[in-house]
Amino acid sequence: MAFEHYRNLCAGSLTPCPGMNVIYGRNAQGKTNLLEAVWLFTGGRSFRGARDGELVAFGQEKAALHLQFYSEEREQEAELTIQNGRRSASLNGVPKRSPAELVGKFRAVLFSPEHLSLIKSGPALRRNFIDAALCQVKPAYAPLLSRYHHTLVQRNALLKDIPRHAELLDTLEIWDDRLARYGDAVARERAAYIQKIEAPARELYAGISENKEQFGIQYQKSAENLREALAAARRDDLQSGHTTVGPHRDDLEVTVDGVSARAYGSQGQQRSLVLALKLAEADVLEQEGGEAPVILLDDVMSELDAGRQHYLLNRLDGRQVFLTCCEPGAVKRLEEGALFEVRRGELYVPTSGAGHGD
Ligand SMILES: Nc1ncnc2c1ncn2[C@@H]1O[C@H](COP(=O)(O)OP(=O)(O)O)[C@@H](O)[C@H]1O
Ligand SMILES: [Mg+2]
Repeated sequence: MAFEHYRNLCAGSLTPCPGMNVIYGRNAQGKTNLLEAVWLFTGGRSFRGARDGELVAFGQEKAALHLQFYSEEREQEAELTIQNGRRSASLNGVPKRSPAELVGKFRAVLFSPEHLSLIKSGPALRRNFIDAALCQVKPAYAPLLSRYHHTLVQRNALLKDIPRHAELLDTLEIWDDRLARYGDAVARERAAYIQKIEAPARELYAGISENKEQFGIQYQKSAENLREALAAARRDDLQSGHTTVGPHRDDLEVTVDGVSARAYGSQGQQRSLVLALKLAEADVLEQEGGEAPVILLDDVMSELDAGRQHYLLNRLDGRQVFLTCCEPGAVKRLEEGALFEVRRGELYVPTSGAGHGD
């Protein structure tokens, strides 16, 4: 992996090992930037929600990233450049029309501290948990989702115009049809993904919680038949000026022993659930793609107690992991991995016996 003018990272490269790669350093040195750079090769946008232009180092015009990876039984290489606020990609020397064409070639699962509030937070984060995974499992999903969102924006604009231009009411039918078609497809894909993740997540949760709690997960649709629901909600929608049903209002319900983990789960249960869901995401990605995804753990170890740390590292044994932390000595087993220190955007490989920086 090589980078140039990417965020605060100094021009350089990283040669990871096939197992555990520990990237450590103080705050704001560039650890997350490094994981973000790896993540971009999944074909998606920055997991920080950054605009493409923000990824280029201050004062520079163009950032370049290069990744060598092994997939489909051969060495492959991908390149990403970011210029004029746009990303462009090439794969094995062939320019691609869009970076989204990298989707499914190189896969990764990201686990960061924000995910720890997945159960407790609002539904948007849970929908995003499903969408981010699905985009990699199924390359056709991202364009479907964006068509849905695009249609939703247009329907909402129309809802706001109709009170002043009654003649527009007829066109609402067309938008309802289109929104229902995309929306039902989005909801169907999400529900199918949740079905796939259920079995591995259940097994993982049983392993983490070490007792006999019953785990359950369900995709909650805001409407069974979106076309009918849109018709039924039309008066409300016209009054409020936005669309009140559809996958943008759906949620994910996780239960322990039959009751909502969001409402009744302890903090410990919620953390175990998130851990199970994230690990299950990696399992499903492997099942569907035929290859193990790379695991990116951004600063999560310090958020987990010793038992959960141990479980996580055990489960990830044999996979390629990039893990960031402040102090590798704080987690005993991390010292066995390949160590990289980041200081002001510069990567250092500590000489043997180190692991504590200077
Ligand atoms: N486009 C950019 N150009 C230069 N520096 C940047 C850019 N974007 C972010 N940074 C810097 O990167 C640093 C944060 O890096 P980050 O990877 O989040 O740190 P951490 O090691 O804590 O994970 C901050 O100092 C920030 O100013
Ligand atoms: Mg960070």
